[in-house]
Amino acid sequence: MTETPKEPSAIDVLILAAGLGTRMRSDLAKVLHRLDGRPLINHVCRTAAGLAPQKIYVVIGHQGEDVKEAVARELHANETVFVWQREQLGTGDAVNAAREYLEDQDSTLIVLSGDVPMIRAETLAGLIQQHRSHRGKGAACTLLSVKLKDPTGYGRVIRDQEGRFERIIEQKDASESEREIREVNAGIYCFDNRLLFAALKQVRNDNAQGEYYLTDVPGVLRNAGEDVSIYLHHDAHEIEGVNNKAQLADLETLLNRRTITRLMLDQGVTFIDPKSTYISEATVVGRDTVIYPNVISEGETSIGDGCTIRSGTRLTNARIGNGVNVLDHCVIVDSSIGKNCTVGPFAHLRGHAEMSEDAKVGNFVELKKTKLGRGSKASHLTYLGDATIGEDTNIGAGTVTCNYDGKNKHETQIGNKVRIGSDTMLVAPVTVGDGVVTAAGSVVIEDVPADTLVAGVPAKVKKSLKSDESTSRETKSA
Ligand code: UD1
Ligand code: CA
Repeated sequence: MTETPKEPSAIDVLILAAGLGTRMRSDLAKVLHRLDGRPLINHVCRTAAGLAPQKIYVVIGHQGEDVKEAVARELHANETVFVWQREQLGTGDAVNAAREYLEDQDSTLIVLSGDVPMIRAETLAGLIQQHRSHRGKGAACTLLSVKLKDPTGYGRVIRDQEGRFERIIEQKDASESEREIREVNAGIYCFDNRLLFAALKQVRNDNAQGEYYLTDVPGVLRNAGEDVSIYLHHDAHEIEGVNNKAQLADLETLLNRRTITRLMLDQGVTFIDPKSTYISEATVVGRDTVIYPNVISEGETSIGDGCTIRSGTRLTNARIGNGVNVLDHCVIVDSSIGKNCTVGPFAHLRGHAEMSEDAKVGNFVELKKTKLGRGSKASHLTYLGDATIGEDTNIGAGTVTCNYDGKNKHETQIGNKVRIGSDTMLVAPVTVGDGVVTAAGSVVIEDVPADTLVAGVPAKVKKSLKSDESTSRETKSA
């Protein structure tokens, strides 16, 4: 006789994120501290969403409104439920805060910690799988454990003589011999909802910290004759919690190392010194690109094939095409650079600056919200803000777009094949036509017609260049 297997119950996720995190010694709630540029809680939320749960419950307390805001940047409002825990009386009390939503649900509840950011969805899938299949009927609780060389600070998993789960003991409540145990509780669990909330009623706070521990629940269940299973995981890094700034830095190093290794092995990127290079997880880098020491790439940056990024450069949400040369000490933020451009040394691109292919930006040049056309150059000591510059135009040393009148920002338009002389001031709003030449030291306060030479303060048209050009062409062809 074949039994129809029970439909697996739906998944809900609960994330504990109400604590201040005293050990961080910070005014910022722990789960808002950033790893790879994103709050810890966002890492956990993204992983939770990967399980496609019915709902994600987030228990908030300390700086709860800020935590809400961070979560809202990661999850859809209709998949998230925020649960307030006004007083932080322990992890058991935190789960209890969600009682009204969950105690009558048939779902399987995954409990995650907002301060354990490296856990992967694949690992949780394994945990759920074991939870559902335990002894053919499923467990009341399955907890994730790992063995650590140094288990200090974690709750220890105590097994009975047969190696089955007995209880969890917190570091502060553990005897000397219990502290020797290297198998620790990851703070990540799978529960049968109804059994969890029934067992929580029996949890007391008579322990070293005077808190209601969630870690007591598996022991309560086991003592009531329920099945508690342990999912022993091999990757200790994945469950590392962030309780202080040293642990946070360790995870940052680990994540960075993983990203760089992946880029080297899978994408063929060359790193001269991986240890001194910081590359965000979301950064994309192409083949045969060489990244020098002390480069920082943050956020959603992409770098094409065959680029060179020299030392001391920071890229934040930068888009860089193929064959680009970024020289030393550049800052490129929210900006894009077309193929075969050269940038720097000491250049600053920001506010959606855009360089088309073959353009050049040199020493001490700042581009803000400016488009530099194909093959155009600004090689030295220049500020270009709110400007659109055409193709094959040269911006001389010391040029400034005077874009701000003290109240408003104004735009500068410069055409194709223009030669802006050294030390030209372009007082915006102003338009400079195609083929214009400005003499050194010009102060351009009014629009300049195409193919003219202007000079002086304020700049005046000195001659037309169009006739010159046509004359010279005629001469040549003659
Ligand atoms: C907890 C576990 C420990 C485990 C470790 C793994 C308990 C009692 N101990 O210890 O066995 O080895 O995690 O990382 O659960 N929180 C609330 N409300 C509270 C208290 C905590 O929301 O009242 C949240 C915190 O914000 C944090 C998480 O729960 O995100 C864990 O709390 P934390 O104080 O860091 O627990 P640990 O001491 O690390
Ligand atoms: Ca913790």
